[in-house]
Amino acid sequence: MNILIVGAGGREHALAWKLKQSPSCQHLFIAPGNAGTALCGTNLPVEVNDFEGLKKEVIKNNIELIIVGPEEPLVKGIADYFKLNEETKNVKLIGPSKHASQLEGSKAFAKSFMEYHKIPTAKYIGFTIENYKEGIDYIRGHSLPIVLKADGLAAGKGVLICQSHIEALAEFELMIMRSKFGEAGKKVIVEEFLQGIEISVFVLTDGKNYVLLPEAKDYKRAGDGDTGLNTGGMGAVSPIPFFTDELREKVRKKIIEPTIAGLRKDEMDYKGFVFFGLMIANNEPYVIEYNCRLGDPETEVVLPRLKNDLVKLFDAVATGKLEDIQVDIDERAAATIVAVSGGYPGEYQKGKPITGLENDPVEDSIVFHSGTIREGEDVVTNGGRVLAVTAFGNDIREASEVGLYMMEQLYFEDMSFRTDIG
Ligand code: AMP
Ligand code: GLY
Repeated sequence: MNILIVGAGGREHALAWKLKQSPSCQHLFIAPGNAGTALCGTNLPVEVNDFEGLKKEVIKNNIELIIVGPEEPLVKGIADYFKLNEETKNVKLIGPSKHASQLEGSKAFAKSFMEYHKIPTAKYIGFTIENYKEGIDYIRGHSLPIVLKADGLAAGKGVLICQSHIEALAEFELMIMRSKFGEAGKKVIVEEFLQGIEISVFVLTDGKNYVLLPEAKDYKRAGDGDTGLNTGGMGAVSPIPFFTDELREKVRKKIIEPTIAGLRKDEMDYKGFVFFGLMIANNEPYVIEYNCRLGDPETEVVLPRLKNDLVKLFDAVATGKLEDIQVDIDERAAATIVAVSGGYPGEYQKGKPITGLENDPVEDSIVFHSGTIREGEDVVTNGGRVLAVTAFGNDIREASEVGLYMMEQLYFEDMSFRTDIG
């Protein structure tokens, strides 16, 4: 079948790389893609939120399956758009409905979903301009640190961990009274701080059944030793040694199963990935956030460890037959290291030629492109995160050593990467 991936990052390159291996994948298209996805299929010059543009390409290219990578088109309702359109209603789409995508699109929605379905999460209260004064009193009496979260999508910037009441009150005012995070951010969740270790857990669901994918951990800070600013992710590893069978069972019973049951009870149309951002505190799992998509760079370690034919998995999701599927996972460890442009996550330059891409990678290792574009003969940088090098090993340490060795073969001006992933 002909397949379209919507997106342009390392996650989408990993999806393209994996889908291309399936005998059922005929023509693969990526909109808009990058120089890496162009090695797996045909890039289409259509942006991820241009639903009409995407629809035209779907019809023109006889596309039967669409996989939506990033959250923004999902939260804007891309799944409903294709389903409600006469010409595209039979196209299979991997990604939840607009309603269900609110689990990521609105933190208030996600919190009340968890409260209602008794899914462990940090204690919280939601505030708007209506109950602003009560919010001030609540913050004054809250233990430290205090977590403030803007309700809507804020490109990863909408969560503030405040170490003092003064800071929390100032930020609370900026968010509600001065729209620091836009209109959607005028609704604020004030939340208890959970002390623990974070982990990313992924499932693929058809709305009734689910399969558990390999878990991962991402490294969000820009610098070695978890220092510096928060980024979209500087690397990831899988599996996680402390994610024991006992903890996995707890996560299934206390988090995943009540979530899937909740989606059904609330009649949410969900065919796609659920990404659980979990905090493990005292060996108990809590949901920090839901995402309605795969993570980036987590996908770059999760999909290489998945041995199943991904087209078959997606077909089972779309037809509601996921109960027939067993997932088969590579026992080896995988690590991905992200090369970023100088200055990222602040301002950075684009258009720097990348060298070393022609080198043969170490066996089984893969160079995924996150932000690249082809310019004539050259591949040049086109984003903050530029490349994600994924390597395998008997354990995480070995995998990351191979990844570092490969990274040293690659170069662009002002390139930087963490040397301590894993
Ligand atoms: P989110 O956008 O909800 O994933 O939050 C961004 C980051 O803030 C998370 O990855 C955590 O590191 C941190 N965080 C969010 N909520 C909490 C919480 N209740 N307690 C501790 N850390 C949190
Ligand atoms: N790496 C975190 C995310 O994709 O949201």
